[in-house]
Amino acid sequence: MRSFLMYLGALAVILGLLQFIPTYEKKDYPTDPKLEVKAPKKVMAIFKRSCYDCHSNKTNWPWYADVAPMSWVVRRDVVEGRKALNFSIWNSYSDTKKKELKKQIYRSVVLAMPLPQYLWLHPEAKLSKEDKKIIQDWASDGKGYIDLEVR
Ligand code: HEC
Repeated sequence: MRSFLMYLGALAVILGLLQFIPTYEKKDYPTDPKLEVKAPKKVMAIFKRSCYDCHSNKTNWPWYADVAPMSWVVRRDVVEGRKALNFSIWNSYSDTKKKELKKQIYRSVVLAMPLPQYLWLHPEAKLSKEDKKIIQDWASDGKGYIDLEVR
């Protein structure tokens, strides 16, 4: 019993110390609503449900974004996610960049997004077949298909 309590104590100390390790900043930026992406309602609904936590300035931060070690993963995903694609500043991107991002969005819904560690705690964000088609139609400007050329 005594050694069990010692382990527990040591664990608490370690977890406590982890909190002091610097990590990504948890920050929200005020954004001009005019810069936000404009898309049909059903597309926006999917983006907001499944992508906005990491790809917008309207992140819904969970409580564990303040608790290491979970905070390391959550904050990294949001900071890196916004860097790659931020729907809140979509209209500040050049036409070339928008085109490139649409291609990546088209591809990302098949391959990688939303990230698995996010889906684990946000099962409602999972994209259905129908959701993917809606996003791909939008990303391909209604053509339904983008030639992604192998790189
Ligand atoms: C849990 C956070 C998270 C969610 C939710 C999320 N993403 Fe991402 N996304 C990232 C991160 C982090 C990156 C940065 C690059 C990386 O890790 O490869 C990224 C990168 C991207 C990129 C850039 C190209 C690429 O594939 O690297 C696109 C496009 C993208 N995401 C689209 C989406 C879409 C569309 C959704 C919603 C259906 C979504 N993401 C949901 C975290 C997320």
